[in-house]
Order: sequence, then C-alpha cells, then structure tokens
Amino acid sequence: SSGKFFVGGNWKCNGTTASISKLVSDLNEAKVEADVDVVVAPPFVYIDQVKKTLTDRVEISSQNSWVGKGGAFTGEIRVGKGGAFTGEISVEQLKDVGCTWVILGHSERRHVIGEDDQFIGKKAAYALTENLKVIACIGEKLEEREAGKTFDVCFQQLKAYADNVPSWDNIVVAYEPVWAIGTGKVATPEQAQEVHVAIRDWLKKNVSAEVASKTRIIYGGSVNGGNCAELAKKEDIDGFLVGGASLKNPTQQTLQPKS
Ligand code: G3H
Repeated sequence: SSGKFFVGGNWKCNGTTASISKLVSDLNEAKVEADVDVVVAPPFVYIDQVKKTLTDRVEISSQNSWVGKGGAFTGEIRVGKGGAFTGEISVEQLKDVGCTWVILGHSERRHVIGEDDQFIGKKAAYALTENLKVIACIGEKLEEREAGKTFDVCFQQLKAYADNVPSWDNIVVAYEPVWAIGTGKVATPEQAQEVHVAIRDWLKKNVSAEVASKTRIIYGGSVNGGNCAELAKKEDIDGFLVGGASLKNPTQQTLQPKS
C-alpha cells in the first residue's frame, strides 16, 4: 500500500441545501482515524455552503473543472484560466471557494457527457499546474471486461494522464469499473486488486518506480459499509471513492482505514 488511506465521497448531482446541511453535520460528528485523508465532492452550487460549515478535517473536491481557453474546440485545446465559457467553472474559482481537489475522468463524464482522454488529460494538467490535486478516474465498461480488454482500456486512460501531467505528486488514481458504479455489483477484492497491481506496474514501466510506489490507487464502484473492510485488506487498495453510500451514512465504516 502507498501513503495515507484515502476516502472520497462523490455526491454527484444529488442533494439540496437541507440534505447537505444534514450530511455536513453527520460528517462533523464522525470519528475519523488520524491516518486517513477524507474528501467530499459536493455539487458546485453547494461547495460554498459546505466549505463554510464543514470541519477542516475534511477536504473539499469539485466534481469537474474547466480545462481553460479552448477556441471553438475545433483544434488543439489550449489551457488557461476562465473567461467566456458559459456554464463552466474554472480551477481558479474552485480554489477561491476552498476546493483542494478535483475529480476528473469520472465514467459519467466520459460516457454520459462524452469527455475524451485528451480533454481529461489537459484538464488534469491544468488543475495540477494551478495546485488543485486530482482524483484521476479510470475504468472499463462491462463489454470491455468481457472482451478481455480491461487492462488495455485502463492503460490507455492512464497514458492520457501521463502524457499531459507535469508531475504525479498530487494525483490519486481511482479505479472505477463502470459496471460496478451505482449497480450494487461491487468488484471482488481479487478483481480490484488485480487491476490495481496492473496499474502500479504500468506506472512503474511508463512513469517511474518512485511514482508507482508512492501513488495511491483507490477503488470505486458500489463500495459501502458492508464491503469496504474486505476490499481495504488488499495490498494495493489505498482507499475508496464512494458514491451512493457517501450520501447515506458518511459516519460509518467507509471512513475507516485498513484494520
Ligand atoms: O465516484 C464514485 C463512483 O462513481 C462510485 O459510485 O459508490 O454509487 O457505485 P457508487
């Protein structure tokens, strides 16, 4: 395992002022072990509310960030701060309201919104350059797993980060098999471990041995209080990115490290 255990709660497009106020007070009361990084990712519009009410023990992530200047996206993506990009939120604005992390490359942005590897890689590079830490998501779809392409897909997505980012110091890799997200079909500890080892190996061969051993690789996809302990026992599972369960019981077992 690498570094401090990491638990992220991705609230996705859920919540209201009232429900988020309740979640924040649950988090404020939660007992969190000292050696765990805890991060929550509220929808953009609630980040300010969360920042003003949540204990500093928990860091805040956004669920996306703007890549920067982009022309009309007909050619090369040029990164830079915000401007005339209706509907987008810049890295600078996210830092201004207290975010220290951003989730990029989430499967919902890849497969529902249509973001591609290069766009995601550029976003990661820009966020890191501006000192926003990155939760870099990757993961295969069910048909890709069934076709034996799990590693190929994960490596291609990893490569797009590697080709773009200035450094791996502030990146956590989140392996989230698409078939496990929001489905209740959690990967078995063995399935997750197998891919985490492959990711670490890829980093060793393609980035450096140091990055491979230091980078935290977390698992996401139907993690809950009932299955997290078994997953956490695996050597290369360094934490979780939790969706649905992070809205329900933020104070429970998913906040605890390896035991
Ligand atoms: O970012 C979180 C993942 O998409 C997992 O979501 O825990 O609801 O399956 P889930």
